[in-house]
Amino acid sequence: MIFHAAFVLSLILSSTAVQLPFRYNEPETADSSSSSYQFKWPIRKVAIVGAGAGGLVTYREFTRQGFQVRVFERDSVPGGNWHYTEEVPIDAPIPNLDPSIADFRPSLPPEGAPWPYEQRLDGLEPKVVRDIKKEHRAPKPIFDRLNTTNPKQAQQFREYPWPDYAPISPTRNHVQRYIRSYASYLGINSNDDNPDISYNTRVERVDKRYTQDGEEAGWTLILRQVTQTGSNSCKIRWWTEDFDAVVVASGRYGAPNIPRIQGIQQWANIQPNLLIHSRQYRRPEAFANQSVLVIGGSVSGPEIAQDISVTASKVYLSVRASEGSILTESRKRYLSRLPQNVSIVQEIKSFHPLPDDGEGLRSGVIEFVDSTLLRGIDRIIFGTGYRYGFPFLPQFHSSSLRPNETIPTKSGKPQPLVTDGTHIRSLHLDIFYIEEPTIGFINGKCVNNGIDTFSFSEYTSSALAKVWAGHARIPSTRKMWDLHWKRLEDAGGSYGKSFLLLGDIRERERIRQLVGWLNQEAVEYGGHQLSAPAESRYEIARIWAISQFPAYFSNQNITGFTASEFLNGNQIAEAWSLSRDDW
Ligand SMILES: Cc1cc2nc3c(=O)[nH]c(=O)nc-3n(C[C@H](O)[C@H](O)[C@H](O)COP(=O)(O)OP(=O)(O)OC[C@H]3O[C@@H](n4cnc5c(N)ncnc54)[C@H](O)[C@@H]3O)c2cc1C
Ligand SMILES: NC(=O)c1ccc[n+]([C@@H]2O[C@H](COP(=O)([O-])OP(=O)(O)OC[C@H]3O[C@@H](n4cnc5c(N)ncnc54)[C@H](OP(=O)(O)O)[C@@H]3O)[C@@H](O)[C@H]2O)c1
Repeated sequence: MIFHAAFVLSLILSSTAVQLPFRYNEPETADSSSSSYQFKWPIRKVAIVGAGAGGLVTYREFTRQGFQVRVFERDSVPGGNWHYTEEVPIDAPIPNLDPSIADFRPSLPPEGAPWPYEQRLDGLEPKVVRDIKKEHRAPKPIFDRLNTTNPKQAQQFREYPWPDYAPISPTRNHVQRYIRSYASYLGINSNDDNPDISYNTRVERVDKRYTQDGEEAGWTLILRQVTQTGSNSCKIRWWTEDFDAVVVASGRYGAPNIPRIQGIQQWANIQPNLLIHSRQYRRPEAFANQSVLVIGGSVSGPEIAQDISVTASKVYLSVRASEGSILTESRKRYLSRLPQNVSIVQEIKSFHPLPDDGEGLRSGVIEFVDSTLLRGIDRIIFGTGYRYGFPFLPQFHSSSLRPNETIPTKSGKPQPLVTDGTHIRSLHLDIFYIEEPTIGFINGKCVNNGIDTFSFSEYTSSALAKVWAGHARIPSTRKMWDLHWKRLEDAGGSYGKSFLLLGDIRERERIRQLVGWLNQEAVEYGGHQLSAPAESRYEIARIWAISQFPAYFSNQNITGFTASEFLNGNQIAEAWSLSRDDW
């Protein structure tokens, strides 16, 4: 214990704040001397799509900088991804739908109907009412016993730290309550009755607005609210609202990804619920005494395989080889804590035709890429991730483009945000849509495989608010494109994971660069200074990870310590958090 205390103290003393301001070093390009981007209209009124962690912290940033803000949330409460319910999302379509409609098809009032338009639906079966609400709000993809991927300190808003008594590894329920209490702190929880936020309201479309003279003037949102009026009735209301700019904080786990595998369609059609996506998984009891194949070796796959292994008779986990992926080490961590009764199998080559014998999937044969065969499976869970899609911005999707293809500049058409759904592109600093920087993204790109989103949202929302308030400048369109093409080139010329995911060290640098740039701009154009995350934050995340994945770290060379000293890392991390909740 003496060793632990000394170790913790040395970390506290070494956790120096990052020196500010910090210069943002832009790579030199042909267009370096050109002026900054000139917005076509002043930005005062801002819409935020979504009230998850990202939308809430964006509301905080924009209100503090004096903007007029409206938040629209399709769900009935704040919390986004963390709003756990037993109600599960609708079945993932097989095959995948076009990314522009993969989450929902925009629902609009009848053509020519006056705005606002209201529809009252009476005499419905209670299930129909439930289904209308479910499609509208979209239940979230969290399962009951989900372990968080970070210690609490790496999942918090800096002005609103977790209480001391909260465990270092919060459950999904803790995170949900934490985010919801942050919404209360901001005065925009669903029971606050604050006109700044509209719950049960889905943004159906975001369209460019023009003046009578044909000048671009901002954005018009088409909004749809569903209200249950009785056990057999509900009311649907559509209306529009105008804004100068739009922040997209709609998350990135709406559109499930089901891989194209030969024969999958027949297997999916045999009976509902035998093939599901991880977003529909809730608890292991539903898999008792069954033989289950889970597909995907990132986080959902191994975590769900582990969770069901307590009730299932047998669990197989199909992991495909992806050499040199930036996620390889993270994947090894999750695979390292799989229980013994989970067998890792290869990537699937095909599902052989199912005999029509009423046996469900049991008599079906699955062939792997090494030609080995598996039969006797009762259920299949796809932990194969998600696709990017923003159904309310269909004009910026182009699924006919191949992943690495771009629209020829001389066509005059905007470069899309989304093509096949594997990535998001055309963003400056992963935030500003280069073609029209009055659209901004919070967590548009997942950071470090989706972790660290809380602090990343704080910085991206600050960047958007500062630029739109005139307290920071972004480069000209030409220069933003130059920087974008340069980044693409650095990523090997491909918009793949290597373009989006930078890895821990480069993500950290990127946040510092963002802070440095914004602080430098504040010196010139006014506004508050930001502080970068303290180094100690990363240190505790590292210590925490060691405590969570002991088998993985026992093979690692951990500077200065032997692995066995870390095997009770939970204690170290707990001690650390008790003494350092102020950072
Ligand atoms: C299974 C799973 C587990 C995860 N575990 C962790 C973890 O342990 N730790 C961690 O830090 N991160 C984790 N993540 C990442 C997680 O997404 C972030 O923690 C965080 O929820 C991101 O916040 P967000 O606000 O960007 O998006 P979200 O939380 O997804 O919120 C987006 C909000 O936008 C709303 N919305 C979407 N479309 C519309 C529309 N058209 N109109 C109105 N509202 C709309 C949604 O209803 C939702 O409330 C996990 C993700 C998944 C899928
Ligand atoms: N807190 C938690 O416990 C928890 C639980 C679940 C998820 N999450 C978070 O949720 C987010 C999404 O994670 P995710 O695991 O659902 O998605 P993901 O990280 O996108 O991973 C999907 C995985 O499926 C694999 N895959 C795709 N097609 C396949 C095929 N045909 N055969 C075998 N494997 C295939 C992919 O392989 P390639 O890499 O080769 O493409 C990838 O490894 C992440 O941010 C994660 O951290 C957190």
